[in-house]
Amino acid sequence: MAFSADEFRLDGKVAVVTGAGGRGNNIGRAYALGLADAGASVVVADLNEEGAGAVADEINAAGGKAVAVRVDVADEASTLAMAASAKEAFGGVDILVNNAALMVDISYDDTETVSLDDWNKAFAVNLNGALLCSRAVVSSMRERGGGRIVNQTSGGAFPAIGLYGITKLALVGLTTTLAKQFGKDNITCNAIAPGNVTSDAGKMLVPDDSPFIQFLEMTCATKPRGAPDELVGTLMLLCSPAGQWITGQTIHVDGGWIMRP
Ligand SMILES: NC(=O)c1ccc[n+]([C@@H]2O[C@H](COP(=O)([O-])OP(=O)(O)OC[C@H]3O[C@@H](n4cnc5c(N)ncnc54)[C@H](O)[C@@H]3O)[C@@H](O)[C@H]2O)c1
Repeated sequence: MAFSADEFRLDGKVAVVTGAGGRGNNIGRAYALGLADAGASVVVADLNEEGAGAVADEINAAGGKAVAVRVDVADEASTLAMAASAKEAFGGVDILVNNAALMVDISYDDTETVSLDDWNKAFAVNLNGALLCSRAVVSSMRERGGGRIVNQTSGGAFPAIGLYGITKLALVGLTTTLAKQFGKDNITCNAIAPGNVTSDAGKMLVPDDSPFIQFLEMTCATKPRGAPDELVGTLMLLCSPAGQWITGQTIHVDGGWIMRP
């Protein structure tokens, strides 16, 4: 049958987006709004319950369907409670976006000095969090005939230099593993690797007057920084029927920064 643009619609689907209630202009919020606009009911999940509530209110006020859930992705019981809340609110889960992470509040000490506590905390959220959330929802996806998992990695993993990049590179390994393991259940798993994004958190790390932006300008094929909204189209492809044959992939959305010399 011929392709129809309707294949990008998500009507009747239920999506969970972690890390969607953080600092004002955050990527998870853009993902949650985009999924709702495509017709999905959205569970806005974050450690920051108030922020998650504000994003869910924004979706409901625009005529969409959303609930806010407090979750600590590093805590197994909390991820199971998140999955139960999704079931209670909307009947189950079809789409999981593992977007929550420590990026600003992570140690940038070098490997010789970083404390093991900081190291473990970073992995607990950035890697284990995606594992625990995926495990919490996969039975519901199977019951519903399939599902989509999208892991938010980072251009900072290519190459991985430092703790943040190492956690994000490990997430690429989790992505291919889940893709292989769940493929026969009609569950795909892919990753998005954004370049430098102008979320509030991104601007805390790379302010507008940072010399790093000049380096990005010289090395990106197109523009050096993107807004959270510029990642949403890729998420839609990976979550919708239009992208059903894509799995185990990491898609770089970065103005071509990955091709730097
Ligand atoms: N901003 C960038 O330039 C950039 C680039 C590449 C990748 N990323 C990734 O995109 C994602 C979102 O980034 P952002 O810029 O919106 O940052 P952000 O800090 O606004 O978003 C991270 C969210 O995760 C939440 N969170 C942290 N620990 C949690 C936990 N234990 N349980 C549940 N939620 C928790 C925070 O409350 C926050 O809402 C992250 O995975 C980040 O690593 C960002």
